[in-house]
Amino acid sequence: MQILGIDIGGSGIKGAPVDLESGRLLAERHRIATPQPATPTAVADVVRKITRHFGWSGPLGCAFPARIKHGKALTAANVDDSWLNTDVVALFAERTGCPTTVLNDADAAGLAEMTFGAGRGRTDLVLLLTFGTGIGSALFIERVLVPNTELGHIILHGKDAEPYAADRARKEEKLSWKRWARRVQEYLDRIEFLLSPDLIIIGGGVSKPKRAEKFMPYLHTQAELVTAQLRNEAGIVGAALHARSLLKTPAK
Ligand code: BGC
Repeated sequence: MQILGIDIGGSGIKGAPVDLESGRLLAERHRIATPQPATPTAVADVVRKITRHFGWSGPLGCAFPARIKHGKALTAANVDDSWLNTDVVALFAERTGCPTTVLNDADAAGLAEMTFGAGRGRTDLVLLLTFGTGIGSALFIERVLVPNTELGHIILHGKDAEPYAADRARKEEKLSWKRWARRVQEYLDRIEFLLSPDLIIIGGGVSKPKRAEKFMPYLHTQAELVTAQLRNEAGIVGAALHARSLLKTPAK
């Protein structure tokens, strides 16, 4: 069974059809730069272009960097403010003609890792954290996702942790990997104090092996600490897994 997964990010919108049994992409992913400003209409047009690229009219799963509840965007931390309260599901379904589901981007990455990656087979308390422009979080207990946890925004040193410890801070403040890792360590200490996870999976762009080796050795947690396995495909795969619900025939 296949579903088209699309991952909407601040710099790129990427999609590919996903084989739900193996988690593999069935075609090379298609990427289009995120339009600026990334308004709902502009982004919906790109989503439509990606469905057309694959000649797709079946179920569509999208990952989006905001809290998503009943199909609506409840926050707009790193996207255009005009997304607030937009019915993202209705917008994309109308624009593409495909039955559509939408979930938070980190939740999508978490679903993918729990099914095909670092969280496979784990039934204890698992937390995936993505470090990129923002900090995303996906929390699983007994493999069940607690959606929209937004743990990137916990308070650290009296302020939102995200601008302090996201990978964007490393780039913008030109921090060495070691100095940035010190901030991530403070963030992880706080997270462990609040949640006591059994496994922490570090995802996002920094989880690529070449980057991970530069900071992972500095991090120490009581929880098992590993890097994500699906890397930049996780959002696409997780979005497709989430849309699986569209395939289930309703009970009569
Ligand atoms: C947003 C989250 C998102 C994360 C990663 C944060 O700024 O609030 O919803 O998951 O960035 O994109």
